[in-house]
Amino acid sequence: MAVTARESSSPLDAQQWREDFPILARVLPNGAKLIYFDNAATTQRPRQVIEAIVDTYQRHYANVLRGVHTLAEETDELYASAREKVRTLINAPSAEQVIFTYGATSAINLVARSWGESMLRRGDEILLTEMEHHSNLVPWQQLAARCGAVIRWIPITDDGLLELDALERLLSQRTKLVAVTAVSNVLGTINPLEHIIRRAHAAGAVVLVDGAQAVPHMPIDVQALDCDFLAFSGHKMLGPTGIGVLYGKRELLESMPPFLGGGGMIRLVEMDRFTAADLPHRFEAGTPPIVEAIALAAAVDYLNQVGLAAIHAYELMLTRQAHQCLQSVPTLRIFGPKPEQKGGIVSFALANLHAHDVAQLLDRAGIAVRAGHHCTMPLHKRLGVPATTRASFYFYNTPEEVEQLAPALERAMHTLRRK
Ligand code: ALA
Repeated sequence: MAVTARESSSPLDAQQWREDFPILARVLPNGAKLIYFDNAATTQRPRQVIEAIVDTYQRHYANVLRGVHTLAEETDELYASAREKVRTLINAPSAEQVIFTYGATSAINLVARSWGESMLRRGDEILLTEMEHHSNLVPWQQLAARCGAVIRWIPITDDGLLELDALERLLSQRTKLVAVTAVSNVLGTINPLEHIIRRAHAAGAVVLVDGAQAVPHMPIDVQALDCDFLAFSGHKMLGPTGIGVLYGKRELLESMPPFLGGGGMIRLVEMDRFTAADLPHRFEAGTPPIVEAIALAAAVDYLNQVGLAAIHAYELMLTRQAHQCLQSVPTLRIFGPKPEQKGGIVSFALANLHAHDVAQLLDRAGIAVRAGHHCTMPLHKRLGVPATTRASFYFYNTPEEVEQLAPALERAMHTLRRK
């Protein structure tokens, strides 16, 4: 995939960046110091992003693309500049190909509703992988139910990699879409996107990449990847909730009918018809998430300062450390491949202990993790467990925090087995 560097030349100083995150200094009601390992669910925000939200509401706020007064013009400028910053982040050819949505889920639903409904017919095939998040799975099931398309699955190996031989077997002239995550939110697997996209294109299929767990953690270049669509969320990359991005190739976006109708997405409305506006506005009906977009731009600025290649290398270091430390915990099984093949996500299960009980006891030690099926029920069925406990890292986590995971788990096991 278009990860441009595995190891960064400048080491990342997590302590320095942590100072920008007020919440990381939190002490929990029981006196434990917070260790935040739930970054795959949502990340925390630096004060620069919080200040961008406050500053916009206090000084610049108005609706966008509608007003001629000073505040409206200032907000228009900030909103346009946010789009340009996101364009640069993913190296999209133009800002018009960056559509602001309400999250990765709404970006994928937009493609399913608009591109999917206009392009897919009975018997066409949609190729998914066993490791998809429900947000890159349910919209395709809904589409298939509406248009009669058939869903096929690329299986995973026992160590959590995609079975690429199956990709070759499954791709055919009937395949219209391959929808694949860049990084699994459970296994952490970094999928070989360039290979998948090349093979899918050779079969004539369009490729949608779910970038929710990738864009915040590593350099992603949509032109180098040659993906047709990329979806991601603001809140997993230091930004606010309620904002996401859909990137699409221009010819695809231009051929797609608008999904939501309303103000802002039209050029002309008559009593019996409307003409849609140009990109990107044809897909941004209604008042968009204005402040969220502006704050997302502040998050992008911040990530650029830290450096996405450095973030990726640093998370690999934390993940290696976590794998090594967790080896000492009796009966613990880590799901997914070795650290070199994954992002900063470590999901595990302990024999005869429920993931939720484990997460609750870790919380007593101040360690915030997620437990459950992580919106990947088919994947958990394949793994043979109803739930996993997941620690997921970001650049503000430290080796000292990771070091506390294994002893806290051992204490939790001890407590649970005594019950
Ligand atoms: N998609 C998010 C997660 O994996 C919510 O936790």
